[in-house]
Amino acid sequence: MSTSADFGLVGLGVMGRNFILNVASHGFSTSGLDRDMEKCNALDKEAAAAGYKAKGYATAKDFVNSLKAPRVIMMLVPAGAPVDAVINDLMPHMSPGDLLIDGGNSFYTDTDRREKFCQEKGFRFIGAGVSGGAKGARLGPSIMPGGSPEAYAMVKPMFEACAAKVNGEPCVTYIGPGSAGNYVKMVHNGIEYGLMQLLSEAYDIMKRLLGMSNEEIQSTFTQWNKGKLQSFLVEITSQIFLKKDELTGKDLVDFIQDKGKQKGTGKWTSQNAMDLGVPLLTVDASVSMRVISAYKDDRVQAEKLYPVTTKVQAEKAELLRQLEDALYFSFIISYAQGMSMLAQASVEYKYNLNLAEIAKIWRGGCIIRAVLLEDITQAFKANAGLKNLLLDANFAQKINGVQAAARSIAALSIQNGIPAACLQASISYFDAMRTGRLALNLVQAQRDFFGSHTYERIDKEGTFHTEWE
Ligand code: 6PG
Repeated sequence: MSTSADFGLVGLGVMGRNFILNVASHGFSTSGLDRDMEKCNALDKEAAAAGYKAKGYATAKDFVNSLKAPRVIMMLVPAGAPVDAVINDLMPHMSPGDLLIDGGNSFYTDTDRREKFCQEKGFRFIGAGVSGGAKGARLGPSIMPGGSPEAYAMVKPMFEACAAKVNGEPCVTYIGPGSAGNYVKMVHNGIEYGLMQLLSEAYDIMKRLLGMSNEEIQSTFTQWNKGKLQSFLVEITSQIFLKKDELTGKDLVDFIQDKGKQKGTGKWTSQNAMDLGVPLLTVDASVSMRVISAYKDDRVQAEKLYPVTTKVQAEKAELLRQLEDALYFSFIISYAQGMSMLAQASVEYKYNLNLAEIAKIWRGGCIIRAVLLEDITQAFKANAGLKNLLLDANFAQKINGVQAAARSIAALSIQNGIPAACLQASISYFDAMRTGRLALNLVQAQRDFFGSHTYERIDKEGTFHTEWE
C-alpha cells in the first residue's frame, strides 16, 4: 500500500465526495474513508475517469496508513456525535503532529472541546466552516478555518487551491484561534436564514398581493439579480420558479409543503446573540418563521377564522421598484447585524477577527455571496474598528436612499395581512439603532416601581431608587 497521499477525507457523502474531487482536481493525491464500500468504489471510478489521484478506503487503519506524515485529514460528517465517533476511530492509527479538520457545521463549543482533546494527545485540530453546498464543495467553496496558525499552515496550500476565487483571490483565510472558524460559519448561516426568509416574503407579496404568476416572479428575480441585489440566493430563487414538477408537469414550487425545516445553525446564532447581548432581530424573526411554519394545522384552522382581503392601489411597476429597494435595505441590515455580532464575539471569545477579511472571503463560494459584500469589505477595510455597518457613511447614504421604500412595503404587508416578519424586524432594528433616546427610561421606571430595581439618571452619576406610590 502506498503511503503517499497528501490529503485524506472522511465521509464520502455528497459534500465529502465533491470536496475530495475538488482537492484532487488541483493535483493533490487524496484518500477517502467511508464505511460504505459502494461510496469508496464510486470515488475510485470517478477519479479514474477524470485522471485524479483519489482512492477510497473502508477502514480507518488503511486510510490513515495511505497518507503522508504529518497527515492532513478532513472530516465531512454530520455535526454532533458522528464527529466524536470519527475522531475516536482515527486516533489509534494517527501519529503526533497529524492534523484533523472538522469541516462540518459543528457547534463552536464542541470545536473548543475537540481541539483541547486533540492537543492533549499531540494532534492538531482545525474547525473549518465550509459553505457553498455540493456544487461549492466541488467547484470552489468559501472556507472559514479556525485553530492554531501552525495547524492552518499545513492545509493552507490545499484550501487555497480548492476555494472559490474572486478576482483571483481565494475565498479562504485564517479566521482565528480555537472555534473562530465554526463560529463565523454559524453567523454566516444566521445571515443566510434572514436573507432566505426576506426573499420568501418578497415572493409572498408578489404572489398574493400583486397577483403575479410564477413566470412574472421568475423574471423579476432574474432582473433583480442583474442589479444591486445580485447574489447567489437571488439567482437560485429565480431558477426555482423555472422548475417543472416531474409528476404533474406544473411548477414544482407550488407543490412543496410550506414547512421550513432546520438543522439548527440559525437558531444557535440567535441563541448566542442573546447570550452576547447583540440585537439580531432579522435572524430571530427568520428562525421564528421556520418555527411558525411547522404549525400547519393551526394556521389552516385560523385562516378560516380570520380571512384576509388584500387591496393594492399603487401601480405594480412602482411597487416592484419599492420591493427591490426594500429587499436591498433588509439585506444591508441583515449583514449589519451579523457583522456586529462577529465584532462582539471577537472581543468576548478573543477570536481577534478581521471583519474585512471575513467579508472578503464571503464574496465568493458561500451561500450568502453577494455584490454587497464588496462594499462591506471596503467599509471594514476603511475602518477595522467599525462597530456597526450603519455607522459607515457610505452605507448611511445607501440606506437613506431605500428606507422609505422599505417602510412603504412593510406598511403594505401589514395592511394586507401578508406576514413579512423579517422585513419588519429589519426596519425595527434600524429604527431602534438610530434612535438616540429610546423609551426604555419608562421600562426602568416600571422595574424600579414594582421591584426596587433602581435606575440611572441622565444628569447625575450613580443609581437611584424612588418610592413611586
Ligand atoms: C452552506 C449552508 C449549509 C447548509 C445549511 C442548511 O453554507 O453551505 O449553510 O451549511 O445547507 O446549514 O441549514 P438548515 O438545514 O438549518 O437550513
